[in-house]
Amino acid sequence: MAEHIRLAVAGVGNNISALFQGAELYRKLSAEGVSESDFPGVKRPRIGGISVSDLSFVAAFDIHPNKSGRPFNEAVLAEPNNYPRLDVELPQVPVTVQPGLAREEHAEPTSEQFRTVVEQLRESRAEVLLYSLPTGLQWAAEAYARAALEAGVAFVNCTPEVVARSPQLLAAYEEAKVPLVGDDLASHFGTSVVHRALLGLLSERGLTLDSSYQLNLGGNEDFRNLREQGGSKRQSKLNALAQEGVDTSNVEVIPSAGYVPHLRDHKVAMLNIEGLGWAGTPVSLDLKLKVQDSSNAAGVIIDLIRIAAASSRLNRGGFPVAAVRVLKSPAGGHPKYTAEDVEEGFRKLDGPGAAPQDGVLEASSR
Ligand SMILES: NC(=O)c1ccc[n+]([C@@H]2O[C@H](COP(=O)([O-])OP(=O)(O)OC[C@H]3O[C@@H](n4cnc5c(N)ncnc54)[C@H](O)[C@@H]3O)[C@@H](O)[C@H]2O)c1
Repeated sequence: MAEHIRLAVAGVGNNISALFQGAELYRKLSAEGVSESDFPGVKRPRIGGISVSDLSFVAAFDIHPNKSGRPFNEAVLAEPNNYPRLDVELPQVPVTVQPGLAREEHAEPTSEQFRTVVEQLRESRAEVLLYSLPTGLQWAAEAYARAALEAGVAFVNCTPEVVARSPQLLAAYEEAKVPLVGDDLASHFGTSVVHRALLGLLSERGLTLDSSYQLNLGGNEDFRNLREQGGSKRQSKLNALAQEGVDTSNVEVIPSAGYVPHLRDHKVAMLNIEGLGWAGTPVSLDLKLKVQDSSNAAGVIIDLIRIAAASSRLNRGGFPVAAVRVLKSPAGGHPKYTAEDVEEGFRKLDGPGAAPQDGVLEASSR
């Protein structure tokens, strides 16, 4: 059994509720004798020897009055979180949620709040800081990333804010030999991966793309926030569609076409593709996708944090290429990496020959 990942989280929202409860559900399945290769919804039962339930929460930051200052177990189930309560007993996590960096002036490395975050990351002996704040807070993403770097803690950016794509931050993480994983997780079976695959299929079959759109609706805080703060998400979703042979200039993406409270943590997406086939005759595709939105995130976060922890344990800094396919906007951009690069990245994290510095393709050196 691998050592548990010592995980710190910034933002105790729906993603964290899905991650915490899901990891416990897999632990329960394992105790009931289910083999990890039969776990539903898990592609890689182990990454770097780490299983999906080898997880300990050691620090947490949030600013919401229902969460800040409260025990982790209460905060993670507190409103406005609305991920469903899974049928599993949850262990007591001995962590109180700390206030973190609430305002832009807290991002100053000399501010008391910034110093406290660095200290708490060090004291908790966190290996990974998972950044899972609402979209649109570029200052906060950079500030938490700088605090993690100072504490020598690997950083995973769930959001479309530019962190791993920042040449300065990436170079600083490479130099310090600390992993930096980002940006923006590509959900397990989300609109981006489905849209990307269908556009790729159209091109592979030789049809011409005329136009396409993607509309997303949901009833959680992410969808409420994205109505106003969807700019960075829209661009990141377009980045996720970029691939050879597909011209996305006539593709529109609406990250939150509406906040529909009764959908709670379900996301509904509508996808349309209009193409031209033989003799210019039209082909039209409309598709509806409905998912449990935060399970869709946690199913990928579990890989991102295992990649970050495995890289860190091998003393490898910078961007780990194994993370490319589970990100919308990876450092360096999708076209830079082949499927072989990604598999090689995993082999080097997993394999017996895993040695410091040879499983990470640092974006700046490629
Ligand atoms: N659900 C998905 O499939 C998916 C996919 C890709 C990216 N994401 C992104 O992941 C992020 C988190 O999603 P979520 O559904 O958990 O969101 P959420 O709104 O449920 O949680 C965000 C949490 O961050 C807290 N917060 C706000 N400002 C803070 C600060 N300054 N410091 C510390 N905490 C702060 C909020 O109080 C809240 O608890 C979003 O940016 C979302 O766009 C989600």
